[in-house]
Amino acid sequence: MLSIPRGCPAWARRYHRSVAARIILGTQWGDEGKGKVTDFFAETADLVVRYQGGNNAGHTVVVGEERFALSLVPSGVMNPGCTPVIASGCVVDPGVLLDEIDMLASRGVDPSRLRLSSNAHLIMPYHRKLDAVKERYLGRQKIGTTKRGIGPAYADKYARQGIRVQDLFDTKILNDKLDIALAEKNKILTRVYNQLPMDALEITHQYQEYAERLRPYVDDTSLLVASAIESGRDVLFEGAQGTLLDIDHGTYPFVTSSNPTAGGALTGTGIGPKAIDEVIGVAKAYISRVGTGPFPTELSDEIGEAMVRIGGEYGTVTGRRRRCGWLDLVALRYAARVNSLTSLFVTKLDVLSGFETLNVATAYSSLGSHYTEFPRQQRVLYNCTPVLQELAGWETNISEVRNAADLPKEARAYLRFIEKDVGVPIRWVSVGPERSQVIDLTPTPAS
Ligand code: GDP
Ligand code: IMO
Ligand code: MG
Repeated sequence: MLSIPRGCPAWARRYHRSVAARIILGTQWGDEGKGKVTDFFAETADLVVRYQGGNNAGHTVVVGEERFALSLVPSGVMNPGCTPVIASGCVVDPGVLLDEIDMLASRGVDPSRLRLSSNAHLIMPYHRKLDAVKERYLGRQKIGTTKRGIGPAYADKYARQGIRVQDLFDTKILNDKLDIALAEKNKILTRVYNQLPMDALEITHQYQEYAERLRPYVDDTSLLVASAIESGRDVLFEGAQGTLLDIDHGTYPFVTSSNPTAGGALTGTGIGPKAIDEVIGVAKAYISRVGTGPFPTELSDEIGEAMVRIGGEYGTVTGRRRRCGWLDLVALRYAARVNSLTSLFVTKLDVLSGFETLNVATAYSSLGSHYTEFPRQQRVLYNCTPVLQELAGWETNISEVRNAADLPKEARAYLRFIEKDVGVPIRWVSVGPERSQVIDLTPTPAS
């Protein structure tokens, strides 16, 4: 049995009763509201662990009147009893991390508990540059990346040419690795992309400055997380991006370069599958995508426009407009399968208030065939048109609702339809950006 922290609010005490390690991940193309959901659970968590991605993520957390945009520091940092951890599966741009640490400190949030894996890979200036010039070079074929150097940093990691956090503290290794990297990168930058070369000395100086400031945060995070789980502490794994952006299971090549899916939490942290008790899939009540790539339920009409406007669908990191569309249950069933979801957290249901009717995709048709499973072939996915089920909408503003019984019956029917189709229980529904705007559907154990 887990210990319940003193002063823990009544609603939060319920989650404490039996669950020690939970993965919170996106079931769509990112921006599902993972930051808000993580912050909601972090109220009682001991550790919140980011296991993949880097500052391509943009997680907005709203606490009272304050809005925090986080890209690297886990959303649990807002809770003073919680240790935020950046695990080895992440790629870290040290300048961005330090800016975020400073931003938090200047706004009264104590970042000193942050732990950073010594095995995490660093995003270097040439990664950012290569990301940007490659996108330009691809033209109409571009991925629409965040240009934060994510892809090139992971490419170097897997080519075993990456520079890790621990290398910052060993000048010889840092210099040797940088020399090897620049010998190749400068040729690519100058000869392929017609760019100026980068200077090793300049980069070394800058990264050594970062090193001094990062030193207090660096740790063996695999050991830290495993020990916390072992001693029954409450550990949250916060996914960035989403299932459909997964490098192995997403809509390749229009994906990110890491594994946001549940398996990524294990490899990206250095723990085994038996350590995990719950996998919570965060699903927006509709769906959005930033960047290019197939999107079967996309709405390029005034309904999609209304979703963007009402839902404030603009990127936290890049400010880009997000493409919006009806909820895709084919994709959600797929996410349930590849992540072994144990429950769903539906967000932004409030955004759908006022739509006369709603639609959800239950299947696809493509190139003359009918698909109920997410297609594995790019060509099939590109040609998909959704088979839509129409459901009744509701008029009332639901952002103040806290009990399921107070939701309009059409909203309850919408949720029931999702739950039944996906076969995974919806345990929480979010009706606004603020921490308290959550409806708990968890059945209360019989007393
Ligand atoms: P993440 O990347 O998955 O963490 O999601 P983002 O933070 O990028 O985008 C979600 C946006 O929706 C943020 O601006 C949140 O503050 C906001 N949000 C989260 N949950 C809700 C909700 O239930 N209703 C509304 N209206 N906004 C929400
Ligand atoms: P959060 O954590 C939405 C998208 C980019 C692009 C593709 C590859 O806020 O949900 P990258 O820079 O990773 O190489 O870009 O992935 N992308 C996201 N889309 N939310 C995100 O993160 C994203 N992170 C990357 O738009 O299509
Ligand atoms: Mg986001």
